[in-house]
Amino acid sequence: MAKVTFVNVDRPALEGVAIPARVYKSSEEAVKDVARNAAGLVEARRQEGTPCVLGLPTGSTPVGVYRELVRMHRDEGLSFNHAITFNLDEYLPIPNDDPNSFQQFMRDQFFNHVDVKENNLHIPDGTTPIAEVDRHAEEYEAAIAEAGGFDLMLLGIGRTGHIGFNEPGSAPDSRTRRVELSAETRHDAAKAFGGLDNVPTHAITMGLQTMFQAERIVLLAFGEHKAEAVRKALEEPPSSDCPASLLQRHESVAFVLDEAAASGLSRMSG
Ligand code: GLP
Repeated sequence: MAKVTFVNVDRPALEGVAIPARVYKSSEEAVKDVARNAAGLVEARRQEGTPCVLGLPTGSTPVGVYRELVRMHRDEGLSFNHAITFNLDEYLPIPNDDPNSFQQFMRDQFFNHVDVKENNLHIPDGTTPIAEVDRHAEEYEAAIAEAGGFDLMLLGIGRTGHIGFNEPGSAPDSRTRRVELSAETRHDAAKAFGGLDNVPTHAITMGLQTMFQAERIVLLAFGEHKAEAVRKALEEPPSSDCPASLLQRHESVAFVLDEAAASGLSRMSG
């Protein structure tokens, strides 16, 4: 199988930083580079005739990556008909067609505009009754294993340092499960939901162990509000206090930052 490497993974780490990190002047430039690299991987797998298994995030951060991939599909013939996708997480409970559901987000931002096959899309089901969540989570894990594991996992980061919805305290060996959202995470979602009381208290998320099995991981963070979480993830010892810092133990991970998100790093300020 052809080895496709992300340019940023090959770059030497910033001094004093535990994970290779590439800092871009703007998020627009960053998302284009990430999309171009992801497209290269998708195309390489297509030429080999093997599926391309992708772990996909939601949130404002990856929107530009999806926009660029949609453009490449439309203008350059990039095909996703051999892609198998697994989203990181979903609110619980939430109706599938709720404008704030990650199901709806992914269809609006990406799936409705490319040729990915409906049967190959996987998003945790926000309508799962509590009594059935464990079974649903096991089936999600089994589907990932059956797909052969992730070629690429794209991640964002929450202000708490969460990845997916693995909030501080999440174990490195955690699997897909129901989780309680932190106050800060719910606060950040309050505007979109039209008030804190409307934000679900729980979610279902892929576990840290599930994510860390990916062959390569790229975490994107843009904006000054992410600077402290990025600093902790890159400069403090790996700890469940900042789940993203546990990525330091992964072999092939890169952070893609804009200058604002990198502004807390001692390398940038020193
Ligand atoms: C949500 C998602 C995360 C995402 C985070 C950051 O909590 N579960 O996967 O990384 O939001 O969102 P944004 O990119 O909008 O800052």
